[in-house]
Parts: sequence; structure tokens; C-alpha cells
Amino acid sequence: MSRYRDVPEDQVYRLFYPAPVYVISAALGKDEDALSVVWVTPVSLNPPRVGVAISPERYSYSLIRKSKSFAVNKLPFRYVQQMAFIGDVSKRYLRNKLDLSGLHIGAGRTSGVRIIREADAVVECKLVSSLEAGDHDIIVGQVTAAYASHEFDAIWDVRRHSYASYVGSIGDGETARRIFVSTDGEVEETRWPRNEAVARRNRDHRAIEEAGLAVKGKDLHEAAKAVAAKTAIHHRDALFLLEEMRRQGLVQLGGRLVASDFE
Ligand SMILES: Cc1cc2nc3c(=O)[nH]c(=O)nc-3n(C[C@H](O)[C@H](O)[C@H](O)COP(=O)(O)O)c2cc1C
Repeated sequence: MSRYRDVPEDQVYRLFYPAPVYVISAALGKDEDALSVVWVTPVSLNPPRVGVAISPERYSYSLIRKSKSFAVNKLPFRYVQQMAFIGDVSKRYLRNKLDLSGLHIGAGRTSGVRIIREADAVVECKLVSSLEAGDHDIIVGQVTAAYASHEFDAIWDVRRHSYASYVGSIGDGETARRIFVSTDGEVEETRWPRNEAVARRNRDHRAIEEAGLAVKGKDLHEAAKAVAAKTAIHHRDALFLLEEMRRQGLVQLGGRLVASDFE
């Protein structure tokens, strides 16, 4: 028997797991949001910069682009259920997502930046660039403030600081679950929340796939208008959902998102 099994293209990213989970918080005035991410890494020592791969479909992404700032928060393992919740539910579909998440958002040290109060470490950033990498953009943030709990003293004391790494999801629909592992090897599973916001997000994704095919060949912005006129999907949401489809090669559309789409 061969030492290797072939890995299908759509599973390659999972070879990089388990990977630490972070929470990105962002705000534009009173409009605050947070999402879970695993595709995060430092990208420059001097100046200190971090990169995050984030899909334009995420509500938080527009807040980051508009406010030109965000924070990376590292939470202890005991908040794994809360991290799964904010990673499954979008503010696009649940306006009081953060209130229901059990996490608390507060002012950071940099003007306008919001942070998660439960974090063991916070890295506040100013957005310096974004690059279309594929269906996600890589955003690069320059560090404007960084602070951590006392378990960090030049390096993390890993006997006292337990954080969550994401292993991946298994199953489909109602039976789907996400697997996380702690630094101590404790495994915890989370289930997809069964709420109207998750159901609507899934419905919009299915509807956009049908509607998207009907507007094949059009310019992205024209296509979004046409979809909004024909479906219950709001024009702005249609724009981001169609852009995701375009990037994934699911529909041929002219044009692409431009900076003013985030304004
Ligand atoms: C463990 C986990 C890791 C995730 N990693 C990423 C990531 O690296 N980049 C990304 O764009 N979305 C990632 N997501 C998905 C977002 O967190 C999710 O779409 C979220 O609902 C977006 O919320 P928003 O629309 O309110 O911004 C992840 C989700 C989970 C549960």
C-alpha cells in the first residue's frame, strides 16, 4: 500500500489544520462585528504587519475596508462555542449577532478600533493593503497596538495559555459539526446553530447560484442589480455573493468589485 492518499483539491486547505483560531473585530461607528478566522499569519517583522485571508462575502470585511482598521483577538479555549457561533452566523443576516454570541466588544487603544474583551491577546491594526488572492482577499494590517495577558512573556507559557485550534468540519446540514482541539489535546465539537439567520444565509447562497446563472456574461454590477430586482436578495448582498461566485469560476461575469463598492 502506498504511503500517501491523494487529497482532492477542495480539501487541500485542511492539510494546514489544526490551526489556531482568532477573532477579527471591526467597526464603523456603531456598526460593530466580529468573525472567526484561521487563515492568519504575521507577514512582516519591521514594520510589524499581519495578513488575514478574508472573503468579501463577510459582513465584517466591508467594515474593515471602510474603517481601514481591525483587531486580531486570541481567545482562550473555553470560548470555543462562542467562536464557532460568530464563525457560523453573519451579521448580514443577524443584526444582533454580537449580543447573542456571549462575547463582549469594547474600545481598543487605537482610535475607532474595537476589541474582544475576552481575549488573552490583542493586535490592533491599520489596513495597509488588500490583494485579491482567489475567493478570499489577503488583507495586510500594520500593527498600531499589541498587548497580552501575563501568560505571555516574550513567548507564551503554553502550560497556562490554552487556545483553540480548528481541525475542520464533518457531516452535512443538520448533522454537520466543527471540531476544535485545545493546546492540552482536549477535543470539542460544535454544531451549526439552527436559527433563521443561518437558514437565510444558506437560502441566499442557493438563490444566488440559480439567479447568477441567468445573468451569465453580464457586468458584475449590472448582474447584481438584475438579481436584486428578481429575488429577495438586497442589491449590496447580491454584489458580494455574485463576486464570490465569479471568483470561484461558477459564473462568467465582466468587471469585479472595486474600492467604491466598500464605501
Ligand atoms: C473556525 C472557523 C474559521 C474560519 N476562518 C475564516 C477565515 O480564515 N477567513 C474567512 O473569511 N472566513 C472564515 N470563517 C468564516 C467566517 O467566520 C463566517 O463566514 C462568519 O459568519 C462571517 O461573519 P460576518 O459576515 O458577520 O463577518 C471561519 C469560520 C470558522 C467557524
